[in-house]
Amino acid sequence: MKAPVVQGTRSGGSMETVFDLAGLHRVVTRWKAEGATIAFVPTMGNLHSGHFSLLERARELADRTIVSIFVNPIQFGKGEDYESYPSTLNKDRAGLADNDLDLLFVPDLSQLYPGGVDTDTRVIVPGLSNILCGRFRPEHFSGVATVVAKLLINTQPDVALFGEKDYQQLLVIRRVVTDLCMPIEIVGMPVIRETDGLAMSSRNAYLNMTERKKAPLIYATLQAAAQRLRRAPNQISAIEAEGMKILEAGGFRPEYFSVRRSEDLAEPSAQDKRLSILAAAWLGSARLIDNVKVLVDS
Ligand code: PAJ
Repeated sequence: MKAPVVQGTRSGGSMETVFDLAGLHRVVTRWKAEGATIAFVPTMGNLHSGHFSLLERARELADRTIVSIFVNPIQFGKGEDYESYPSTLNKDRAGLADNDLDLLFVPDLSQLYPGGVDTDTRVIVPGLSNILCGRFRPEHFSGVATVVAKLLINTQPDVALFGEKDYQQLLVIRRVVTDLCMPIEIVGMPVIRETDGLAMSSRNAYLNMTERKKAPLIYATLQAAAQRLRRAPNQISAIEAEGMKILEAGGFRPEYFSVRRSEDLAEPSAQDKRLSILAAAWLGSARLIDNVKVLVDS
């Protein structure tokens, strides 16, 4: 962060919405001339309390806040839910205005992909993009890295906020910002959950009533695994296998249940103390992801 929160420079509850880069640039240029700091929260819309927690923190961290809503086609694989991704723009706009957002950016495809999506320049973070979710969604993280780079270049924030619910995404974005030498602070924010533990996600809407009742098992299993890992940090393989088994028995189709080093998602060695347990599993037509952090102190 370049400047601390400056009291009294807020625009006072009148949210602007812009749909093109030229409009975005006009506002950002004005704010920069005023010396205001900017916090940015990119989203794909269908906003819930997880998104709003990022906005709330953004407002504390900078003088002006920008949220973007853009469903990014290149981060969806073939046969995934790009076409059916839930869109609730009017509701989202009302919620953002109620939460004192300054600027909403809602670009269409031609704004962010002027040359089309097929031959577009891509940002690729090697290694990190190919493990865990990347093994099952091969193009996903280059799609995320590319769109987030475009958004950061154009919103020019001092700070950008991302949820730890998408922990691997957060690390990919940290690498993009570091490797492309962007003068932007990336802030990771805790997972916001429903009262029964299910991590909030736009994709929870795909669950039917029976599935919704089963869904908290993913977090419960991660918590149980965390407890076992603290007791027996040398039993990683057994803990991973047990997590997969519990989810399968509970009606999920798990893709992975993995203990990793929090810092870079590498496989941990005995010296690593800050670990994460991450899981992805299908339940009906919803692909759910979640993770917990574990401090091993033996
Ligand atoms: P989306 O899924 O809309 O999420 C936008 C931001 O909200 C991400 O940083 C995500 O991690 C965060 N978020 C979602 N659910 C959360 C929860 N339950 N608790 C805390 N934070 C949560 O992630 C994306 O969009 C896209 O990949 C994007 C970064 C916008 C690039 O297209």
